[in-house]
Amino acid sequence: MKLIIDDVNIEKIKDVFSIFPIDGVTSNPSILYKYGKQPYEILREIREFIGENSELHVQVISESSEGMLKEAHKIIKELGKNTYVKIPVTREGLKVIKILRKEEINVTATAIYTQMQAYLAGKAGAQYAAPYVNRIDNLGANGVQVAKDIHDIFEKNNLKTEVLAASFKNSQQVLELCKYGIGAATISPDVIEGLIKNACVDVAVENFKKDFEILCGQGNTMLNCR
Ligand code: E4P
Repeated sequence: MKLIIDDVNIEKIKDVFSIFPIDGVTSNPSILYKYGKQPYEILREIREFIGENSELHVQVISESSEGMLKEAHKIIKELGKNTYVKIPVTREGLKVIKILRKEEINVTATAIYTQMQAYLAGKAGAQYAAPYVNRIDNLGANGVQVAKDIHDIFEKNNLKTEVLAASFKNSQQVLELCKYGIGAATISPDVIEGLIKNACVDVAVENFKKDFEILCGQGNTMLNCR
């Protein structure tokens, strides 16, 4: 499962990249709004930092197919080929996904709340389909199960599309989908930090250090003992 950062805060992205094995960055219009910088200004900065080999996912705003296509072309021109244009799976969006894939532009089908949306996006050629796990949970349904169903639908229908699960609120949701072998998860920096945070591990490491220092003296390590 690929691990992707769902944020555009460049300081946080740099910090998370320095610690975790990260494959790319996703954004959406609300995330851009929260950060407050002009979209291309910050997205170009992110592209420069992550390099050409990491994925960057950027969403269109237009509701018409003509508008979405124009935006998609500009996004690729500004941010490079390894950029995935996020297209909401609406009626117009489906049309755009088909056209963009014919043009060999990378597509992440987004705003997915149902298995059928994902199936249609996959059949239209999108490389990724992004179900919103936590938002689906908040509707009283089971977001993790919807993401698993989509993974199965792609496999059973021989579609190459991968699930890029989004909208996580806790480590448990991520773990469940990791165990299931979905293609990718895009996760906010806070939730990514939670993937490794564990007080038991901290106590275990602290106790190892204490024992070693009783043996070799305070402040000593394997570097300066006999
Ligand atoms: C990603 O494609 C989505 O835009 C994002 O993960 C939604 O997350 P949220 O439900 O926390 O806003």
